[in-house]
Amino acid sequence: MFSELNPAVRAAELRELLQHHAHLYYTLDAPALPDAEYDRLFAELQSIETAHPALLTVDSPTQRVLGKLLPGFAQVRHALPMLSIRTETDTEPSGALNFDARVRRELELGDAAAPVEYSAELKFDGLAINLRYEQGLLVQAATRGDGESGEDVTQNIRTIAQIPLRLKGVSAAVLELRGEVYMRRDDFEALNERQREANEKTFVNPRNAAAGAVRQLDPAIAAKRPLSFFAYGLGDVQGWPRPDTHSGLLDAVAAMGLPVCADRAVVQGAAGLVRFHQEIGARRDSLPFDIDGVVYKVNSLALQQRLGFVSREPRWAVAHKYPAQEQLTRLNGIDIQVGRTGKLTPVAKLAPVFVGGTTVSNATLHNLFELRRKGVRVGDQVIVRRAGDVIPEVVARLPEPRLSYVPNFAMPRQCPVCGSAVLREQGGIEHRCSGGLFCPAQRKQALLHFAGRRALDIEGLGDKLVDQLVDAGIVTSLPGLYQLDLERLAGLDRMAEKSAQNIIEALHKSKQTTLARFLFGLGIRQVGEATAKALARHFGQLELVMAASVDELLAVRDVGPIVAQSIHDFFAQPHNREVVEQLRAAGLHWEEAAATGQGPQPLAGKTLVLTGSLPTLSRDAAKDLIEAAGGKVSGSVSKKTDFVVAGTEAGSKLDKARELGIALLDEAGLLLLLSQ
Ligand code: IVH
Repeated sequence: MFSELNPAVRAAELRELLQHHAHLYYTLDAPALPDAEYDRLFAELQSIETAHPALLTVDSPTQRVLGKLLPGFAQVRHALPMLSIRTETDTEPSGALNFDARVRRELELGDAAAPVEYSAELKFDGLAINLRYEQGLLVQAATRGDGESGEDVTQNIRTIAQIPLRLKGVSAAVLELRGEVYMRRDDFEALNERQREANEKTFVNPRNAAAGAVRQLDPAIAAKRPLSFFAYGLGDVQGWPRPDTHSGLLDAVAAMGLPVCADRAVVQGAAGLVRFHQEIGARRDSLPFDIDGVVYKVNSLALQQRLGFVSREPRWAVAHKYPAQEQLTRLNGIDIQVGRTGKLTPVAKLAPVFVGGTTVSNATLHNLFELRRKGVRVGDQVIVRRAGDVIPEVVARLPEPRLSYVPNFAMPRQCPVCGSAVLREQGGIEHRCSGGLFCPAQRKQALLHFAGRRALDIEGLGDKLVDQLVDAGIVTSLPGLYQLDLERLAGLDRMAEKSAQNIIEALHKSKQTTLARFLFGLGIRQVGEATAKALARHFGQLELVMAASVDELLAVRDVGPIVAQSIHDFFAQPHNREVVEQLRAAGLHWEEAAATGQGPQPLAGKTLVLTGSLPTLSRDAAKDLIEAAGGKVSGSVSKKTDFVVAGTEAGSKLDKARELGIALLDEAGLLLLLSQ
């Protein structure tokens, strides 16, 4: 630790550290350092070696592409090496400007020459795979390995439904397609949730979960891990005429039946690259999968050939990064948070750290057992992950010795908010406050959930106000919200007359709702938005949901025994029925439909994509209308999209729709379609 002054000692220390972490990362799929930290150490070693060339050793991690073969998989020599791309770690626009300047210099383009055309795409955070098709049939799938040889993972890759075993309309002697195997965030969260419920080890991030699944020696286990794939390039090709451009190549690959990400664009010059980097950056959190940057490729394959390669990296491509989604920080303390259903969650209090584009100082530790399995104690250095709109979490601690004894964290026996006994279900992994709606924390969360954007959407009823209302004993139940009057509200601390008026109006407006929103808002355990929608669609009327037996509930799409039981238990409680009655008496209403499929379904079987802002409908409102009409709303444009609904400031999705010739609608067009 005190070796910074002596470059030789520090270089040796860094080599050892990097080798150790590379082994954990590549070979054991069990990384113990965030990438950003690894990159920092790597860069430090590189700079020492540049300053003191004599310290460079042949085995330095800077001198080779890493990755070891595990015993158990056959080794495959790649027909064409699988290269990597140069990375611009500078997350500012200069990253794109530098690349464009380099390309123009290499191509000897003067200032007057036209902008270079690029294919801009996402940098998926998974693992690279080479798919070898012979006469159109998938004959082999291999990992990248060290770039020269990888592992034969054909059995596991064949379990990924998205990867065709036979290409559409291609019978070339050899066509190797390269791309990224990755795990969607929702699949990753669900997988970890299952692991947590089974009290088993969770995965650090989607990339490691995907890498673990691909290199899982038991294909039956691999098949249970939900993997996805995006193609982005070619390997060996024999007997297949290449298109002229990279974007044309991706179109052709999509036409063969392989998934190609729709979030890509053909852009002109540095300005186009910068715009793409910014546009995707703004949408990074709402993408369904992790990306760690974007990739720019010179679009013309002829120009690519002219540019060629330098030290195993193409001169025609670059990866342009975004802020890392995992960072190292210090755990300063552990708090307990009481949730809507009384669940006690240990929450990490962190030294503030910039991760995934924002500063994070709280992160979930999920539950006592997961916390213990990770071995986290106050004072430790920990890795925090924040990706998408998922709550930031502590994924691991750095295995470093502790200088003093720190007691292991224990759950309180009494609820820290209301003092009720904390119970642990027999064999269960969750600790729960037994106070029910007597517990102010649960009451607050129930009110916030009910008022949430996807439930009753009561604008202005945020956590500050809910705290005030509950702490002062003004609102004790959901129906109590509708007894609020102007005087009461305006009398609260820091509440302006106008804001009070707005809340009364929002409460009034919320009374006109939908059955799905109402069911979701009740906060029935296990009933998320999707289940609430399915229930509303299936039963059509609240009375029918309330009266349904467990068997009848099981007939609803995607409702399993645990969910069915939970819904049944909820409505079996007189207290809950009373809440429903009181809410209806307060004037909450919605259109009751006849059961499943009886309402008109003009969009049945259709997939729509929304982009830009519509003149009157919010995105949620448009989504609700489309789903109520039987349609599906997807986040990205592909050949399977039926309509793209575009408002003002529509971005790359609109370009993509035009490129694919997909029917475009404005809001009026959508409403017309819905009314048919
Ligand atoms: S092209 C010769 N395109 O990034 C260029 N790579 O260092 C070959 N990656 O391990 C790569 N998204 O797995 C390319 N759209 C994309 C990519 C992408 C992710 C990964 C790839 C490789 C690494 C490149």
